[in-house]
Amino acid sequence: MADAAPAFSVVRPEAARLPRHVAIVMDGNGRWANKRFMPRFVGHKQGVDALVRTVRACADRGIGYLTVFAFSSENWKRPEEEVSGLMSLVLVAVSKYLTKLANEGVRIRIVGDRSAVADKVRAAWDEAEARTAHNSRITLSVAFNYGGRWDVVQACRQAIADGLTPKDLTEDRLGSYMALAHAPDPDLFIRTGGEVRISNFLLWQAAYSELHFTDCLWPDFDEAELDRALASYAARDRRFGGVKPAVRPAAAAQPVA
Ligand code: FPP
Repeated sequence: MADAAPAFSVVRPEAARLPRHVAIVMDGNGRWANKRFMPRFVGHKQGVDALVRTVRACADRGIGYLTVFAFSSENWKRPEEEVSGLMSLVLVAVSKYLTKLANEGVRIRIVGDRSAVADKVRAAWDEAEARTAHNSRITLSVAFNYGGRWDVVQACRQAIADGLTPKDLTEDRLGSYMALAHAPDPDLFIRTGGEVRISNFLLWQAAYSELHFTDCLWPDFDEAELDRALASYAARDRRFGGVKPAVRPAAAAQPVA
């Protein structure tokens, strides 16, 4: 005889409470390389592989949007050799992974100030966006030469250029000019590498994101780390500034005989 059906739901709570949008500050590449007596660039290179693994893991779990901080407006302060290494890594990453990701249903969007990057880097990003524009399994937004404050200012500039008056300027209206207007606000914001700060990433969009910090260095980030972050998210009580509806005691819910 077949076993009786379980009296409880078989849906795992963490599956029922999956973030739609995950944002990640991919920190710790340099330390990962230093620990191995290797140049920092090797850490960044491994970071690209960790990024591709994470895109696939998020897509497999049904997460619709992943946004990662690949190069901040402040990263220009790094030694010239490291900056040019990161720029050339864009070209390497696009040539190594673009076709694969495109065939796996990944839509790529680049967010940030493209005016300051070299023509060939801009061309690689344009190609990545154009070749994946029709995909819908997961949207990977790569923040490159991006800063949260830059984003607010560029959105205001566009709004003013469009002739918006102060009374037209609502949160929704301004949000429509922000770099991530194509995505819902991130539900879960992860930072690897042990630092506990936001570092000018998604200042507007992360207003109600759940924050998760891990000591894991970015090149080591794997499915187990992602699942720990997702389990932590699933256990959070999100109120968005409101209050939780009162739970009626079971006895009071019984009809009076
Ligand atoms: C922070 O680690 C990481 C970065 C500034 C670069 C992140 C880039 C990648 C993961 C590669 C993805 C790149 C492309 C082209 C898509 P850190 O260097 O600050 O590490 P540290 O804190 O250990 O020094």
